[in-house]
Amino acid sequence: MCYVALVRFAFLLAASATACFGAAPMGWNSWNSFANIVNSQIVQQQAQALAANGMKEAGYEYVVIDEGWWLGERDGAGNIIVNPRQWPAIRPGQKDGDMANIADYIHSLGLKAGIYTDAGRDGCSMYPDSGPKYLNTGSEGHYEQDFVQFSKWGFDYVKVDWCGGAEEKREGAVQYAQVARAIQHAEKTTGRRLFLSICEWGSQNPWFWAPGVGGIESTVWRTGGDIIPPVVESLEDPEHAKRFITLKNVLDSFEAGMHPEAQHTGYYNDLDMMVMGMRGMTDAMDRVHMGLWVMASAPMMVGSDLTRLSPATLSLLKNREALAIHNDPYGLQPIKVAEPTPGLQVWAKPMAVAGRRAVAILNRTDSSAPVKIDWGKLGLVGTPRSLRDVWNGRNFTAADPAFSIPAHDLLLLSVDGEDKKPAEYPANQSDIAGIQATHGPMFARLEYANASGQVAVVRVKSTSGLSTALALPPTHGSDTGMAGFLLPGGTADLSFEAQIVAVRKLAVYSW
Ligand code: GLA
Repeated sequence: MCYVALVRFAFLLAASATACFGAAPMGWNSWNSFANIVNSQIVQQQAQALAANGMKEAGYEYVVIDEGWWLGERDGAGNIIVNPRQWPAIRPGQKDGDMANIADYIHSLGLKAGIYTDAGRDGCSMYPDSGPKYLNTGSEGHYEQDFVQFSKWGFDYVKVDWCGGAEEKREGAVQYAQVARAIQHAEKTTGRRLFLSICEWGSQNPWFWAPGVGGIESTVWRTGGDIIPPVVESLEDPEHAKRFITLKNVLDSFEAGMHPEAQHTGYYNDLDMMVMGMRGMTDAMDRVHMGLWVMASAPMMVGSDLTRLSPATLSLLKNREALAIHNDPYGLQPIKVAEPTPGLQVWAKPMAVAGRRAVAILNRTDSSAPVKIDWGKLGLVGTPRSLRDVWNGRNFTAADPAFSIPAHDLLLLSVDGEDKKPAEYPANQSDIAGIQATHGPMFARLEYANASGQVAVVRVKSTSGLSTALALPPTHGSDTGMAGFLLPGGTADLSFEAQIVAVRKLAVYSW
């Protein structure tokens, strides 16, 4: 299915006749800055800011209403009832207490609307954010009814949390497969795409089962707990007043989110909503945060108050070259290729343009440090042709440069060179066995056809013991589907389930 990426990558799609894919979603989410005080007025203000401050043009398109929009009330037929004062009519002719009002408002700005529920019976917490559970604010027992309702209201995105599911000791893979099927049913009912954001916090290793769960085309799954407890600045609440964000919050979420072998085109690890510009964040911390999230091709749901972003934060969020790394069609996570001294780290990942690498040099130490990059570790032949400093949009010319990175900062580079020659595997087989990745992770580019009309899940088994899954959405007509993925170290076998996938080309690049 074509959505997000069609516009952003029209030029690539035209050039390669590759089928559509979805980059990880970008937008705003209410939780980090508004927690349970969320209401129509707040959402309208944030949507207006997103539409007016250039973020929309940069690709931030979803406005997601998190927990607090509903207090668990249903009518006799099980339909959700919301507080009419929290969600009043916005335009003449609308009824108070109808969530279609806000979805319609968001759409009127050319944006997409997102909503939230829980996979279990109960939701997470009461006002403002850490009280007892919200009883009955989950969708269990009402999956079909609720997702059809969200879709009828006009929502395009749903985040499905796990507080109730965890409390009831449910199995995530089972529950989210049911959620995914209910979402597909809703899509068929209304004809509207409803993107699923799985929020299971990594507690049952979703990176192993979330790709393609319930046959879903493209999804994201949270990999850890919350990056921070929300910071609602308008609350006269002593607890909120003392909350502020540290670099550790950001680095911990990034580290918990690294499951590079599970991530591939259209299926993304979710490192949590972003906190750029929030209380405690400096410009350097914003750079680290932005750099890590774009390198990880993670969902970029900004959780800040968009009406109060500084020009520096806003300009970072809109940095086109950084966002091109995020939106790369491979959508891979980076690999740490070097750590010359503890805390000085070089992260790199392949990009879909031949010979291109995105490189982040992260200095977690307390002092500024020079770094020398061994380009051979990035799978390149010799030294790169060009090096670009993404933050400042300027090229370096040195053939073998030593960079100096300030303490607690991150340098983001786009590097162009020549790929080492890939190993190519014969096409049109149902299994490809014995792919050599003996020197650690390798990256692979798969071109395929899947005429089954369904997402195919291909198992990747490796002698390293890791078994992951590649979800391959259907292709149409003579289109070629493409997936970039990382093979874990060892010898890997791909087995194409029920032979519904025809491999057109598999190239494996050594690093
Ligand atoms: C959980 C999620 C958060 C947020 C809150 C709402 O903690 O992980 O992202 O949705 O619930 O209560």
